[in-house]
Amino acid sequence: MMATRKRVEVETAMRTPRLVLSPLDPRHARALFELLNDWDVVRMLSEVPWPLRYEDVETFLASEHPATEDFIVLDARDPIGVIGIKKPGSGEPPRKMPRLGYWIGRPHWGRGIGTAAVAALVDRAFAKYPHDRVGAGVFRENAASQRVLEKLGFRYTHDEFFDALGIEIPYYLLERSHAVLRSEITSQKPCAERADFTG
Ligand SMILES: CC(C)(COP(=O)(O)OP(=O)(O)OC[C@H]1O[C@@H](n2cnc3c(N)ncnc32)[C@H](O)[C@@H]1OP(=O)(O)O)[C@@H](O)C(=O)NCCC(=O)NCCS
Repeated sequence: MMATRKRVEVETAMRTPRLVLSPLDPRHARALFELLNDWDVVRMLSEVPWPLRYEDVETFLASEHPATEDFIVLDARDPIGVIGIKKPGSGEPPRKMPRLGYWIGRPHWGRGIGTAAVAALVDRAFAKYPHDRVGAGVFRENAASQRVLEKLGFRYTHDEFFDALGIEIPYYLLERSHAVLRSEITSQKPCAERADFTG
């Protein structure tokens, strides 16, 4: 009898001229914990515990996340942040369109990296899903993130109630037809061996 072979989904990494967006990998837990263990980063994120434990980061990087597509942002092979797309239909209550989440470690702010990474995410979301809009919820006080979204063509549309937070937060949308700035992705190639991108 022939042995049945479990089909393994091939992970993909994305490359932009500047960054590599690599699949989650627990080998980057220490470096990412050092960057994420920063209240000025975590206070802008809705789903990260505080105080943060090393195990929280390690578990996140080692786990499957069926409702999201997550990537580690690598700059010259150094992990500097995490970005992701919440899949259409996920969330409580479920939301129709793909939505973006992202953080970059504070030492790397202000050099255009957040914008480049989110642009790559936008391209992926529009390439992968048929939806005509991509969304992102941003805390009212998060001027840097709002600026990143506006640079990419997103517009504030309304305040939306987030059950998990119990508050309304500003919601930004990008129409497919308004996605003027592209991410300059040069390739999306299979990343069967994660070590290729972690050096
Ligand atoms: C938001 C974040 C990803 C931006 O990353 P980044 O690499 O610094 O982004 P960029 O350098 O591409 O762009 C930042 C823009 O915000 C602007 N900015 C920064 N702080 C600002 C402030 N307090 N008020 C107004 N604009 C601000 C910068 O000037 C820049 O705009 P410019 O290019 O027109 O000068 C990063 O700050 C971060 O991870 N913050 C914590 C987590 C977070 O907020 N995640 C998003 C949740 S919705």
